[in-house]
Order: sequence, then C-alpha cells, then structure tokens
Amino acid sequence: MADSVELPYSDAVVFFGATGDLAYKQIFPSLQKLAKRGKLAGPVIGVAKAGWNLDQFKARAEDSVKTHGGIDPVGFPILLDKLRYVDGDYKDAQTFANVRKALGDAKHPIHYLAIPPVLFGVVLEQLKLSGSSQGARVVIEKPFGNNLPSAMALNKVVHDVFAEEDVFRIDHYLGKNTVQNVIFFRFANSFLEPIWNSLYVESVQITMAEQFGVQDRGSFYDAVGTVRDVVQNHLLQVLSNIAMEPPPTLSIESLRDERVKVLKSVQPLNEEDVVRGQYAGYLETPGVKKDSKTETYVALRLAINSWRWRGVPFFVRAGKSLPLTETEVVAKLRPPCPIFSAEAPPANYVRFRISGEPVIAIGASIKTAGDQLRGCPIELVADQECGEDEMLPYEELLGDAMAGNQTWFAREDYVEEAWRIVDPILDKPNVSAYQPGTWGPAEAAKLIAPYGGWFDPK
Ligand code: BG6
Repeated sequence: MADSVELPYSDAVVFFGATGDLAYKQIFPSLQKLAKRGKLAGPVIGVAKAGWNLDQFKARAEDSVKTHGGIDPVGFPILLDKLRYVDGDYKDAQTFANVRKALGDAKHPIHYLAIPPVLFGVVLEQLKLSGSSQGARVVIEKPFGNNLPSAMALNKVVHDVFAEEDVFRIDHYLGKNTVQNVIFFRFANSFLEPIWNSLYVESVQITMAEQFGVQDRGSFYDAVGTVRDVVQNHLLQVLSNIAMEPPPTLSIESLRDERVKVLKSVQPLNEEDVVRGQYAGYLETPGVKKDSKTETYVALRLAINSWRWRGVPFFVRAGKSLPLTETEVVAKLRPPCPIFSAEAPPANYVRFRISGEPVIAIGASIKTAGDQLRGCPIELVADQECGEDEMLPYEELLGDAMAGNQTWFAREDYVEEAWRIVDPILDKPNVSAYQPGTWGPAEAAKLIAPYGGWFDPK
C-alpha cells in the first residue's frame, strides 16, 4: 500500500478470545487508553465461548483495567459504553451472524484474533462467509504458525480472506519505544554509524532474561518452547533493528524491507550453535507433559552474512526462571591497542536496555586518580526519556492497525524468513537442566567463551 494513500480508520473493533488472558492483561488496558485519546470509533465487540452476558463482560473489563494501570475516569466510561459481547462457538455460523449484527453500520471493522493459533483458520473462514471480512483488517497474534511450512500455509489461509495490506501480524516488541529507539538512535546520530560494522564491532549479544517461570501457561508453553515463544519473533525483531541498513526513506515498506533484508542474510541455525535448557521444577507445572523436552532456556549463535556483519557473531539467549527480568543488547567493540597497561583493557561496548526504562550506555575506560596511567571501566549513560506521551505497546500497535499503518507489524516474507532461520533447531530433545535463579546451563557459557562471556544484565 502506498504510504501517501489516505486509509480509512477502523470504525469498529472485534476481538476474539475476549475472556482470555491476553485480553485481560493487554487488550482492555490498551482500549481504555485509546478511548481516552478519542481513538475508538464505533462498537468494541468481544467474542468468546464462556457463557457470559454483557454485564459479566463489562465486569471483566473493569477488573482488567483496575489490575493493569487503574481505571481512567475519562477513558473507561467511553470504553464501557462501546462494549458489546457475543457469546458463541467459533465453528458456529450463528456466532458470526451475531458479530455481523453487532457491527451495525461499521464498514471497516478490525478483527483481532487473540486466540490459540489452531483456531485462526476457522475464524478467518467464518469471517469471510458472514461478510464481516469485507473492508476489514485483521490482527493476528504470534506465534504466526509453528514452523516454516505451517506459517506458509497460514499465510495462504489468511490471504484467502484478507489482502496483505489488511493483515497485521502483531509482535508487541515492535511497539516498544525502546525497540524503535534502536533504529532511531542508530540513524539519528552520526557518531555510531561509522563504527557499526565488523571493523569495530567484535560481537553482539541479546539477552532476554525473565525471573518468573511459565506460571499458569504450562500447556501453551509446553507446546511452544523458548525459540517459538520469544526468539523467532521478539528477539529476531530486535536483531533486525540492531543490524539493518539505513532505510532509503521512512516509508512503511522501506523500513519493513530493511528488516527482511537482515533476516535474508542470516544463515539457518545449526545444532552446534544452540544450547537448550529446562529449569528444575518445570515438569511439575500443570499442563506440562511429565517427560517434556521443551526448552525454557535457549542460547544461540547466529551469523549474518552481509558486508556489514560478516564474521561478527550475534549471540541470543532467552530464558525463564533466570536471576532477574531484563532484556538487553550489548555490542562489544574490538579492543583498542593496549598502550596504557599490560593488563587486558576493560571492554568497550554499546548497551541498549529494551525492557523497563530506556537506557543506552557506552562502556568505556577512564584513567583512575594517581600517578600511573591505569584505567577503570565506566559507563556513559543516557537514561532520559524525552517523550511525554508514553504509550503501551499494545495501545500503539492497535492504534496503528486501526489507522492501517503496518510499519511495526511483521510482513508475510518477514515471518517466513524468521522461521527459516530457526526451523532446523525446533523440537530437538537435548535439553540440559538448570536451577531456577541461575543463568542457565553451563554449556551456554562455553558457546560465547571465545568472545569474553555473557554480559549479565544487572
Ligand atoms: C510474550 C511471551 O510474547 O512476551 C512471554 O509469550 C513473555 O512468554 C513476554 O514473558 C515478554 O514480554 P515483555 O514485554 O514483558 O518483555
């Protein structure tokens, strides 16, 4: 879709899986914020099979926003007034006839599939049969497919109902200001770009640490594992922003082209580049198979075969039940010539903190007091938030989707490239045990040892 074309704003929101976890934790709070900003036009229709009525649904919305950020005295009454609820089975045509009725005069609804991937096909088909897909957009949650063949098959099913310009594959990491800021900071400042290549960068590491385990998501997580849950999507998106070339323009497709180009240069993973772990106690989680080999931790080494990055390893690790919750990128620079001391100089690096408050830091070395030319490590830290208008990732993405803006959504070719990279390492049985509260299996340290080890976020 050409960026200059004025697109219609969605005049209704329909979300499937309305009584589920995602709606409770993310969608209601975001809708409340959008309502406050005047960004909700038309009805907001929740669909689920829970045997609920509208009052129960409204009570759920209230509970959700109370628990996640609080009730907004302006936004919440607006949202409440717009809420509608359709109860029914996704296989039943009557459910969709009721959705159609609830849509009223809306001509450009947005359908949000916050449901398990196995239900995507049936809901898409029913949307088409009931006429609710016409003039509409669709938002599809991750993981988009289960591997490359299933993602390709799902793309076909989606395209049977929606044109690509109306498809919004959501990955909430792309809605994080800190993830967008990686691109901004790289290309809005002239000092970083000249050294952002294999001449100066020795290695890059991306860590997504989570202190909590799989909590009450045992059956979802056990069928998925860390690679599908966060690496194929969130962390490859972060890697794309770190490694991409400057886009020729800021048009939607220019940015998306550059992110896809990075993935096209990434070699598919090999078994020797991967360490998998499972935390002790995981097998006792409700919903998890007693003999499960699903990974709750993964560390891997990726190679980007491009002029900019050839020879620079990219290490990615992610895990549950680690010592803390933090997502961080560290690009380690090649060491300077050590003229000041015989000791190895402390690392020079650039660090982007992705979770929580944004931090960008440059690891450097300065002279300590005293008459000797000895150094100590310091960080030059930028931790100032300059926007007054912080949005929740889902709020931003849902607002963008309603406006038809696909900038921060994964394109068809992107998801397929991402699966191509991880496909060879999916569903393998070799997982090493690790204790909760540690940094994962010992083998993960060996993977990165030649490059000075992991920088553990603090
Ligand atoms: C979700 C994963 O997509 O992202 C979860 O399914 C993970 O397992 C979550 O905990 C992390 O998101 P954030 O924004 O809290 O880093």
